[in-house]
Amino acid sequence: MGTLVIVGSQWGDEGKGKVTDYLAQKADVVVRSQGGNNAGHTILFDGNKFALRSIPSGIFNPKIKNIMANGMVIDPKQMLEELHGLEARGIKDYQLFISNRAHIVLPYHAALDGAYEQFKGEKKIGTTKRGIGPAYADKANRIGIRMGDFIQPDIFKEQLRITLKIKNMELRQLGLEEFDADAIYDEYSKYALEIKPFVCDTSLVLEEELVKDSKILFEGAQGVMLCLDHGTYPYVTSSSPTGASVPLNSGVAPRYIQDVLGICKAYTTRVGEGPFPTEIEGELADQIREKGHEYGTVTKRPRRVGYLDCVALNYARRISGINHLALMLFDVLSGIETLKICYAYELDGKQIQTIPATNQEYSRVKPLYIDMPGWNEDITNVTCFEDLPIPAQNYIRKIEELTKIKVSLFSVGPDRKQTIQIEELF
Ligand code: IMP
Repeated sequence: MGTLVIVGSQWGDEGKGKVTDYLAQKADVVVRSQGGNNAGHTILFDGNKFALRSIPSGIFNPKIKNIMANGMVIDPKQMLEELHGLEARGIKDYQLFISNRAHIVLPYHAALDGAYEQFKGEKKIGTTKRGIGPAYADKANRIGIRMGDFIQPDIFKEQLRITLKIKNMELRQLGLEEFDADAIYDEYSKYALEIKPFVCDTSLVLEEELVKDSKILFEGAQGVMLCLDHGTYPYVTSSSPTGASVPLNSGVAPRYIQDVLGICKAYTTRVGEGPFPTEIEGELADQIREKGHEYGTVTKRPRRVGYLDCVALNYARRISGINHLALMLFDVLSGIETLKICYAYELDGKQIQTIPATNQEYSRVKPLYIDMPGWNEDITNVTCFEDLPIPAQNYIRKIEELTKIKVSLFSVGPDRKQTIQIEELF
């Protein structure tokens, strides 16, 4: 068996796309199992930069089967734009399979997403406003539209009519413009026609590959701290980006999940609202933000920046079964005199090693830090662990000590070539 789950172990944007792309060189299949175009996976190779949103990161390799699985919510219009964008840049030879059980995101979802945020005022979540939450809510409410129905014109028309009746009632009450079922149908049935050849039962495709002992990469989106169940609720996304969600969201048995690679930055970032204990502001935060290009791929928002938080990493390890770590954007830390790593929190005078469930408590925790000497050397050309300056080696060793997870890979720049594998993975 060769399955590897790639999980964001912080608040998303850890560099999952880059690692997936790197490991995909060995993969037969790449699967996106949750989320939608709220994700932004940046990939750089041979001087070309690509920003993927809902399409799996294996799309550049014609030999790889790319699966958009049942747990995703897919905006057909955006997804086609993304695909056309890739085609226009020469990515024409690809294999794409879209689950007939995945849900679709329609314009009223985005309208409601924006409206909820506006009504929440100061309590807003800071969503990507792509309609992700409302689409998952419709799924749970059993009024969502699935790919398998979307591609059948009569069924799509009928489902849209019923769902829109309910949605328009809500939109009216919120004082928003209503949507016209015929107008959506006319536009979206064209997209359905184009998407139809890709739609199938992706769980069967996966089973065939598992039987053949193929190498399967599950590409997580967002991060464990944004998990609907285990994250910093309500400042989370509406799906579960944990390793545990992969079997359910892709239709494979849990026993097939072998290894879980947690992707983490050498520091921490967060977009949107919600507690962030190790957050820093001022000159150092600006330096990291600029050097690490810490602006949202999807929304372009400046990301909040903080020191590495090993309490959050340990939590991600526990919840997601992470047994390897990939340390990303390591080069960004060059030139900082002293680096801090959070090893525990203090809450109401007591030391704790986990994430409190309530935001009231979580916003009160104080991070406890270990100071680590930094390094000034440029490490962007390093090709092995031993080439790193000693303080950088010590930084990695300290993370391993605090999280009890082996750092199997680290990254010193955006290019595929700037990925250094310490231990064989996958
Ligand atoms: P939503 O997923 O658009 O509903 O947004 C909910 C929260 O998750 C917000 O704080 C977003 O900024 C955050 N979020 C969603 N997707 C990503 C991602 O891919 N990277 C980082 N944060 C994300």
